[in-house]
Amino acid sequence: MSDQRHTGQPASSGASDDAQIQPPGTGGGEGVRPSEATGSSHAEIEGRDAHGGPGAGAERLSGAELEQRYANPGLPAHVYRRSDVDPKAAKRREREVAALFGLSTLGTLLFIVAYFAVKPSGAEGAEMLERVGLSTKLLGLGLGIALFAIGAGAIHWAKTLMPDDEVVVVRKPMRSSDEDRAEAVAVMKEGAAGVGLGRRKLIRNSLLGALAPLGLLAILPLRDLGPLPGAALTGTAWKPGRRLVTDPTGRPIKPEDIPIGGVVHVLPEDIEEYEHPINEREKATTLVIRLAPDEIKNEKERDWSVDGIVAYSKVCTHVGCPVGLYEQQTHHLLCPCHQSTFDVTRDCAVIFGPAARPLPQLPLAVDDEGYLVAREDFHEPVGPSYWERG
Ligand code: FES
Repeated sequence: MSDQRHTGQPASSGASDDAQIQPPGTGGGEGVRPSEATGSSHAEIEGRDAHGGPGAGAERLSGAELEQRYANPGLPAHVYRRSDVDPKAAKRREREVAALFGLSTLGTLLFIVAYFAVKPSGAEGAEMLERVGLSTKLLGLGLGIALFAIGAGAIHWAKTLMPDDEVVVVRKPMRSSDEDRAEAVAVMKEGAAGVGLGRRKLIRNSLLGALAPLGLLAILPLRDLGPLPGAALTGTAWKPGRRLVTDPTGRPIKPEDIPIGGVVHVLPEDIEEYEHPINEREKATTLVIRLAPDEIKNEKERDWSVDGIVAYSKVCTHVGCPVGLYEQQTHHLLCPCHQSTFDVTRDCAVIFGPAARPLPQLPLAVDDEGYLVAREDFHEPVGPSYWERG
């Protein structure tokens, strides 16, 4: 690896410290030309238009021709500092840097002395607090001076005395020579031949037989994650013809039991007979609300109602809190957790808050004995949205 830098001897002196000095004969330094920088013999390069594609009159230029086509920008003129051209100025900078490093040493000494000399132990009450305060201040001061001064000294050194001339590092081509590549291939082939997989078919086949099922070791333990949820996430205990019973008394209800504006919390009858009744209760909990029939604005909602009685899942579609607050005047259902608000007269559409979709409606009917029953289960999963529901 080689490099190139401005090495002209500084020739002037006597300017002010702030002035930047331009020695004669250094403008437009000799830059490294592209072919020198890469060290490669350019392959032929196809002409390109302004967008990088082959130009209309694409011509093929050799590397040498390209070098003539694009001027060598070279290096910008190097600007010398005062300390580069004036030995006295350089000596002053040196002393300044040394002073900063010396100040750092003093800071370190202050820290060490303060650490041993000002000890809170042995004192009590106000005196101890006073010593803690003094110790902390001195330790902080010493550490601050030590770190700041050493950093400032290093920066001052780099900016005023260290070489700051531009350097071009010539990169070598990354590609190995053809001989090296051929040698590497030969070594690999030789190694493969030595292993003898081609000749020893028994070993090769048994190795493949051992590797093929190896992936099962990673897959089999997934069984321990438990049974698949099946329909547990999508269905509830509501089934066609199942009666609505009040929660928690378990009393079946008839339409005439609910006045206009009334709200009843209901569950499916016999929910306690399920294997996991608590889970089923959480999913199937439902609010029954009676509206005046002409207050229902949505056709599907009206179709699934009985005499203005509508039933909606009580599980908020945001993150699953119980939607338990009903405003009789506005017909709004409010979730207390994050204030999602649903309009019961418009199929429980979300009118405020973070919930992403309406509360699912339970289709209702009346059985032979006049009790309210579910016509079928909810048509969509209840509760928070998840990956299948967006
Ligand atoms: S859970 Fe209902 S708004 Fe968040």
